[in-house]
Amino acid sequence: MQLDDLYRRVIMDHYKNPRNRGTLEEDAISISLNNPTCGDRITLQMQVEDGKVKQAKFSGEGCSISLSSASMMTEAVQGKTLEEALALADQFSSLVKGEPAEFEDYEDIEALSGVCKFPARIKCATLAWNALRKGIEQQQ
Ligand code: FES
Ligand code: FES
Repeated sequence: MQLDDLYRRVIMDHYKNPRNRGTLEEDAISISLNNPTCGDRITLQMQVEDGKVKQAKFSGEGCSISLSSASMMTEAVQGKTLEEALALADQFSSLVKGEPAEFEDYEDIEALSGVCKFPARIKCATLAWNALRKGIEQQQ
């Protein structure tokens, strides 16, 4: 199987079976962002306890890249400290820009960055991560 096919398969899996899609109770941080080029919108909710992401969920509408990225991001930040979550957001930014970065325990995200090298796709892929950044900023 070609690497691109593998990447697409991983993305479609997250798109069709999204992890952590839904909403949290009212005490969660909630950030809504849209992609101005297409109007797609994502709401990220996070429950932070003792400086750690206890739960993260997302809702909204978007393309396969933006929704699979949200699915992967909410999985990756679960249980992480806010600093660690921010570091993941930085790593992801580097990956989509083609700069070296490694998600040692999260290969799906490398697959995502592998198909997101075009500017329009980068905006799709980073939407959820930008929401994460905003949510963390609100806590600091
Ligand atoms: Fe066209 Fe997302 S569906 S860029
Ligand atoms: Fe809207 Fe990708 S086309 S987020």
